[in-house]
Amino acid sequence: MAFVELRDVGKWYAALSGRRSIAVQHFSLTLDRGDFLCLLGPSGCGKTTILSMLAGFEAPSEGQILLDGQAVRAPSRDRGVVFQGDDSLYPWLTAVQNIEFGLRVGGVPAKERRATALDYLDLVGLNGQAEKFPAELSGGMKQRIQIARALANKPKMLLMDEPFGALDAQTRSIMQRELRRIWDATGTTIVFITHDIDEAILLSTRVGVMTAGPGGTLKSVIPIEMTGDRERADPAYGRYYQQVHSDIRDEVAKASSYGRKAA
Ligand SMILES: Nc1ncnc2c1ncn2[C@@H]1O[C@H](COP(=O)(O)OP(=O)(O)OP(=O)(O)O)[C@@H](O)[C@H]1O
Ligand SMILES: [Mg+2]
Repeated sequence: MAFVELRDVGKWYAALSGRRSIAVQHFSLTLDRGDFLCLLGPSGCGKTTILSMLAGFEAPSEGQILLDGQAVRAPSRDRGVVFQGDDSLYPWLTAVQNIEFGLRVGGVPAKERRATALDYLDLVGLNGQAEKFPAELSGGMKQRIQIARALANKPKMLLMDEPFGALDAQTRSIMQRELRRIWDATGTTIVFITHDIDEAILLSTRVGVMTAGPGGTLKSVIPIEMTGDRERADPAYGRYYQQVHSDIRDEVAKASSYGRKAA
């Protein structure tokens, strides 16, 4: 049985005009345990909507989402979430207290949870920032604390929405390598949204490309099979890049009239 299954999932909202606004339609996908799926597609095609339904924050309007054979009905600590440009840190807790929050709720003893939280703070390169409050941290630092907080719970599944979008290039590349290392070490199943083809090929086991919205769906899933450490110099990298790029180019062109002229 697949670990995660999306069966013909659709989601729509009641628009202010009174008509239905379709966010996603006929989206079907299965994930095995340990898959690392990167999801790409033009702005507004429904990527965040898919992630939010996987997290259990919203229910599909049609179709089904199953995790281990059970319908996803509500959020759970088994699914760690890092959302797009979202500042969901508790402002009254310090950086380290934010990271250990889930462990505290889960009943992990104080000493142990503090040690774990400090390890993850170090992992995201924020050693020495433990006692700062969110208001004293930069946007990129807050984003990294959210990543550390999600990882500290050791979730079965990590749902990440453009998590490195706000980071500088150097930190981003370190975080990409660390995420690959953590994924390798833990076997966590990851769904990772990005607009960056390079990032998708360096990180994932499969790249999913969505069609343009409104009402986007899954257009293609490309398995990334590269041995050893992933290098841009690898000829396979160039081939994958071309393939993903050509799938996505047509969709971006559909989504913008400028793109239609350029394509
Ligand atoms: N709460 C909502 N109410 C009404 N419409 C919504 C709501 N959330 C999303 N939508 C619509 O659903 C569509 C998909 O939105 P979504 O945020 O999933 O796109 P996305 O692929 O994540 O885009 P981006 O790359 O810009 O983040 C859009 O047309 C959006 O306007
Ligand atoms: Mg989005």
